[in-house]
Amino acid sequence: MGQEESTPIDESSPPFTLETRTVEGLAKYIKDGRARRIVVMSGAGISTSAGIPDFRSPDTGLYANLARLNLPYAEAVFSIDYFRQKPEPFYELASELFPGKFRPTITHSFITLLHRKGLLLKHFTQNIDCLDREAGLPGEMTVEAHGSFATQRCIDCKLPYPDDEMLEKVKNKDIPCCKNESCNGLVKPDIVFFGEALPAEFFANRELPQQADLAIIMGSSLTVMPFAGLPQLVREETPRLLINLERVGGIGSRRDDVLLLEDCDSGVKKLAEALGWLEELEEMWATTGVKFGVEPEKKEEEGMRKSKDEKLEDEITKLTKDVDETLLLCEKHESRVRSDFDREAKKLLEKQMKMGDSGDEQEGDDDAPPAAEGSKGHRLSHVFGHLKKGSSL
Ligand code: OAD
Repeated sequence: MGQEESTPIDESSPPFTLETRTVEGLAKYIKDGRARRIVVMSGAGISTSAGIPDFRSPDTGLYANLARLNLPYAEAVFSIDYFRQKPEPFYELASELFPGKFRPTITHSFITLLHRKGLLLKHFTQNIDCLDREAGLPGEMTVEAHGSFATQRCIDCKLPYPDDEMLEKVKNKDIPCCKNESCNGLVKPDIVFFGEALPAEFFANRELPQQADLAIIMGSSLTVMPFAGLPQLVREETPRLLINLERVGGIGSRRDDVLLLEDCDSGVKKLAEALGWLEELEEMWATTGVKFGVEPEKKEEEGMRKSKDEKLEDEITKLTKDVDETLLLCEKHESRVRSDFDREAKKLLEKQMKMGDSGDEQEGDDDAPPAAEGSKGHRLSHVFGHLKKGSSL
C-alpha cells in the first residue's frame, strides 16, 4: 500500500463525484441512479453480530481465543501443512462455526436488498459462513474468496464428500476421510487455507471493482492478500464507503471515500434510512429469523412508529381534548343545575306567595316536582346556595 493510499484526505478537498463526502451524499448519488454497479467487499465483521467471532479483534477475535486448541501459532488452525499433520484443532473449531446455527445479520440482508434492487454487481467476501446465502443472496452473486463450508473434498485426490455425512462428522467432531478407500486422504471443507490458492472464480472476477460505480467495504481488517488489494482496484473517482469499527486499508485517503467507523449493522441502517429503504430492509431481515424461531415483529401500529415528539404532541392533543370536554360538561352541568334551581325556586316562590295568601308555613312539600337528575334532594335552595346568590332570580 503506497503512502498516498493511507494518508487521510484533507477535509477541504472537495469530492470528484459525490456532492458531499457523507452518507447523505452517497444516498443522493444512489438515488440519482448513478450507482448501478455496486461492488461489496466484506469480512468477518459483518457476521460478528450473528455470534461468529472475527479473527483479529484483540479480545473477542478467534485468534485471541484459541489457546484451548494448543496451536503452535493461532493461524495454524487454517494452515494446510498443519492440517495434514493435525486436523483435530480445525474440526474442533469447525463444529463451533459450522453453518446452520447462525442467523444472518441485517448487513447480510442489506447486500441482498442491493441485489433485489438490481444494483449489486458482485459481493466479494472472505467469509466462510454462507450467511449471505442464508439471507437470500443467490450463490452466483458472491465470490467466496476464501471458500466456504458449503462443499468439501479430499485434500489429496479431490473427490467430493457428501454433505449429509460431513454434517454428521462435524457434529460429532469426527475427522472425515476420503470415500475412495485406496486414497483415504483427509477431507476438508472447501475453505482456502494459508498455503492454498484462491478459487479461480476470484481471479475471474477480479476486474469487476474497476467497473464499479460504488464500492462498499465492510467488516474487514483488509490484511490478507490478495483480497485486501481489491479496494485499490476501484477507480480513483469512484466513491468507496467503508463501514468498519476502525479505519483500514487506506480507505479515507481518496476524495470520494466516505467513512462510517462504527458497527456494520448500524452503518447499513443509516445508509438505508438515508435512501428511504429502512422499512423494507427491516422487513427483509425479519424473514431470516423465522428459521431460528424469531417471529417477525408484528408490523408496528401507526402510533408505535411515531417519533418521540409526535407521541408527545399526540398526548398533549388528547389532554387538551379531555380538558375541553370536561369544561364543556361542567358548563352544561352548571347550566342544567342553574335551570333546575331556577325552576324550583320559581315554584317555591309561587307556593310561598300562595301560602302567604293562605297563612300556611309548611316546610315539607310532597307536591314539589322531582329533583333534577343528579341532584340529591329537592331543597335546592340549600344545596345550591352559591348558585342562588348569583342567580338572576
Ligand atoms: P479480521 O478479524 O481480520 O477483521 C475484522 C474487521 O472487522 C476488524 O477491522 C474489526 O475491527 C472489524 N469489525 C469487527 N466487528 C465489527 C462490526 N460488528 N462492525 C464493524 N466492524 C467490525 O477479519 P477479516 O478481515 O475478515 O482467512 O480476515 C481476513 C481473513 O483472515 C479471513 O478470511 C481468514 C483470516 O485468517 C482465512 O481463514 C483464510
